Amino acid sequence: MKIIRSHLGIKLFLSYFVVILVGMSVIGITTKFVMPAAYARHLSFMESQFGAETGTGQGLMGQGRGQGMGMMSEFYTNFQATFNESLVIAVIAASLVALIVSLVFSRSILAPVNVMMNASQRIADGHYDERVESRGDDELNQLAGSFNQMAEQLEQVESMRRRLIGDVAHELRTPLTAIKGYAEGLMDGVLPAASESYQQIHAESERLNRLVDDLQELSRVESRATQLDVHPVDSAAIIKTVTKRLQHQFDDKRVNLTSSLPREPIHLLADEDRVIQILTNLIGNALQYTPEEGSVTVSIVSEKEEARISVRDTGAGIPPEHLAKIFDRFYRVDKSRARSRGGSGIGLTIAKHLVEAHGGQIWAESAGENKGSVFVFTLPLSK
Ligand SMILES: Nc1ncnc2c1ncn2[C@@H]1O[C@H](COP(=O)(O)OP(=O)(O)OP(=O)(O)O)[C@@H](O)[C@H]1O
Ligand SMILES: [Mg+2]
Repeated sequence: MKIIRSHLGIKLFLSYFVVILVGMSVIGITTKFVMPAAYARHLSFMESQFGAETGTGQGLMGQGRGQGMGMMSEFYTNFQATFNESLVIAVIAASLVALIVSLVFSRSILAPVNVMMNASQRIADGHYDERVESRGDDELNQLAGSFNQMAEQLEQVESMRRRLIGDVAHELRTPLTAIKGYAEGLMDGVLPAASESYQQIHAESERLNRLVDDLQELSRVESRATQLDVHPVDSAAIIKTVTKRLQHQFDDKRVNLTSSLPREPIHLLADEDRVIQILTNLIGNALQYTPEEGSVTVSIVSEKEEARISVRDTGAGIPPEHLAKIFDRFYRVDKSRARSRGGSGIGLTIAKHLVEAHGGQIWAESAGENKGSVFVFTLPLSK
């Protein structure tokens, strides 16, 4: 019983076999019931034919009813024996053929299941490139299609995981190497034990701290663990809050920050803190990548069901081939330049996740290097 339960092939084979046995039993029982009456009917038909041909009107039975009846019953017994014999031979032959056919069928049904079983075992062993062949659209082929899809996603997740670990290690190494370098310099007396050296160490540890915070935030938004506290909020108030907070940094770098607010208030259906975080990221980037005497403008318009918020700058610009990639994590257009300024390429990834969590979209436009760029995102309007 346990063997039957644990083998689909045996189950399939037995189910075929039971169907055959039931079919044959029905044939046997039906003939047992139907045959005597059918035999009698055919016999009386033959008799009437025979009687009509001789023209005596007496028929076969007329020759002696008693003698005729005896002959008939013997004839019937012989006929039944002949019939039973051929039925038994037919049943044995049919069973043998059915046995072979059901074995072939159960094997052909089981073959793709076995292939999938082996493939899933290989995936479980870490071979994520494993795929199974899927032809036609029956259920097993659909299953094979879904299996391949699942394998593809697993492969992507695995390669993302590997890349992420590599990227994080790489990002952490930079400030750590710097801190180690300063500490060694101080120990060897190469660097003076002055406040400037300690400040460098402090700045690098700050950078490390910021990176760890960003990574934590990234993992939260990527796993969709951030709960949005969505309610109607005034867009102008949010823009004012962010521009006020960043104003002194703009003043320090002598970059002009302006905002163009609508006459009619635009109410967003959004999580206020998250929108502030998105805007801070975008305006912060605009400041970071815009040289002195440049300008940054924040504006908002409402369009149909959504609000469009844009942050435009007159800074470094983005070459077209990088436009789609800058939202990928750790992606920087000019790695060495961004590194010297402390960027790690996570800010836009977080912003993108937050915008999408609100059901909005975010994208960047730029006419090319040194021609400025504009970052636009949409958020739902409150009705
Ligand atoms: N306003 C901009 N002008 C030009 N390039 C930009 C602008 N904003 C972003 N970029 C490019 O996109 C890259 C990714 O931006 P992102 O904000 O994700 O990272 P970052 O600013 O380098 O670091 P951080 O994680 O600290 O924000 C930047 O490194 C930069 O090359
Ligand atoms: Mg940034």
